Amino acid sequence: MVGSPARSATVVILDFGSQVSQLIARRAREANVYSELLPYDASWDEIAKRDPAAIILSGGPESTLGADALDCDPRVFTSGLPLLGICYGMQLLAKHLGGDLVPLEHAEFGPAKLALERADSPLFLGVPPESRVWMSHGDSVTRVPAGFAALAHTERCAVAAMGDESRRAYGVQFHPEVVHTEAGTAIIENFLHTIAGIAPTWRMDSWVDDAIAKVRAQVGDANVLCALSGGVDSAVAATLVARAIGKQLTCIYVDTGLMRKNESAGVLAAFRDVLHLNVVHVDASERFLSRLAGIEDPEEKRIRIGHEFIAIFEEESKKIPNVQFLVQGTLYPDVIESKTPGSKAGHKIKSHHNVGGLPERMALGLVEPLRALFKDEVREAGRVLGLPNAIVERQPFPGPGLAVRIIGDVTPERLETVREADWIVTSEIDAAANTLSPRPWQYFAVLTPVRSVGVMGDGRTYGYLVGVRAITSEDGMTADWARLPHELLERISTRIVNEVPGINRVAYDITSKPPATVEWE
Ligand code: XMP
Repeated sequence: MVGSPARSATVVILDFGSQVSQLIARRAREANVYSELLPYDASWDEIAKRDPAAIILSGGPESTLGADALDCDPRVFTSGLPLLGICYGMQLLAKHLGGDLVPLEHAEFGPAKLALERADSPLFLGVPPESRVWMSHGDSVTRVPAGFAALAHTERCAVAAMGDESRRAYGVQFHPEVVHTEAGTAIIENFLHTIAGIAPTWRMDSWVDDAIAKVRAQVGDANVLCALSGGVDSAVAATLVARAIGKQLTCIYVDTGLMRKNESAGVLAAFRDVLHLNVVHVDASERFLSRLAGIEDPEEKRIRIGHEFIAIFEEESKKIPNVQFLVQGTLYPDVIESKTPGSKAGHKIKSHHNVGGLPERMALGLVEPLRALFKDEVREAGRVLGLPNAIVERQPFPGPGLAVRIIGDVTPERLETVREADWIVTSEIDAAANTLSPRPWQYFAVLTPVRSVGVMGDGRTYGYLVGVRAITSEDGMTADWARLPHELLERISTRIVNEVPGINRVAYDITSKPPATVEWE
């Protein structure tokens, strides 16, 4: 493509619903090969659109032996492209190409020792004769298809790997994508680089250049809006779009007045002075406070904040001419969540506040430059784009802000109290962060309406209770409470009680998620 940097070839991964399918996509990208995860039943046209240089078939929870076993477009098998079947994928390969399969009497889960029979197979370059692998299967290949050879076994699995070198088709019964498989990375790299011959050229900086060119092509000379929240996704998306179209982008920062201490000023300074984005700052604290007055129900708070946000954003956007697009920081996990068999409609626990309701109302086209990226890749893209560390490393913060960290009524006084307590929690943990392992993922203070009796000096107090929450987590979906050193907790507690008026007691939240959630509301 003229004007756009060379793109590396793509590997398509067909997802049969394994819990770890996303990891295959990650491993491929770590091997500098661009990967896309598609649902198992993607049509051949959908697959061919990606012009893949190889296809990987993932694992899955079902059996290939059932009458209605999940299957992919048969053209996958006749395409002549290099194929790697993992677990269910290997069994499907065997089924389609004429091998035999049987159900195991006892399914095999967990670690096993892989013994190579064909150490000279290109799949096993650099793989030791024996290594630990991770198994999870109920069926097993007993006879490999014509042209294939059995390449390795484990104690309980006679064909733990098979391959047909001339056809460039391989299957592994174990999961090379999980960290428990010692040689997993080598096996995936061997398949992609050596067998499929894909050059390891996928790099974030060339991806960013390419994404900028695409935005330019999509938007033309129309004007574009972006709602900045201060979070990393919208910041990276906005910066990337600004690189593409400059002043055609207007960012709107709706200041809800529910942000942490110094946060709005910091966010605005970074966006305006460092990144030179065109930002409209809407100070809407009064409006949010009056919408929240007297509201104690957490879900009602969330809904009111969401509605008010959309109303303000719409009002502001009407002031800008010729707007045709809205930037959204949609990430790859959100895209595949809604498309792959692993996704199930869950119960609604909380109404999340985001700008998802905007496009339908405003009839705008969407610009979603981060649709292909995982969260840590977004951070890397942010670094490539020159975003300051304070934004790139920012911990998650709920859209409804401190309103859901004040149990009960939200008032200016209570906001001030939780803000000061939160400042102490975050600055103390930040200062100690290098000594904490694992580093807490998110930490904050919560103001409760609970009052208790205390004594300060010689006087009785009847003050409020502050909760301190610090968690370890990978993605916020599950979390554990952080085992913070007692001395650190002591410093936090002493400072809060001494420095924040009206607080005379501090409690540390020692509940995991589930059963609790991260935020208290
Ligand atoms: P919960 O409280 O649901 O939080 O366990 C999980 C993660 O999501 C963050 N969170 C939000 N993020 N809009 C967001 O963008 C929201 O409305 C929202 N509510 C919670 C929370 O801080 C945690 O990281």
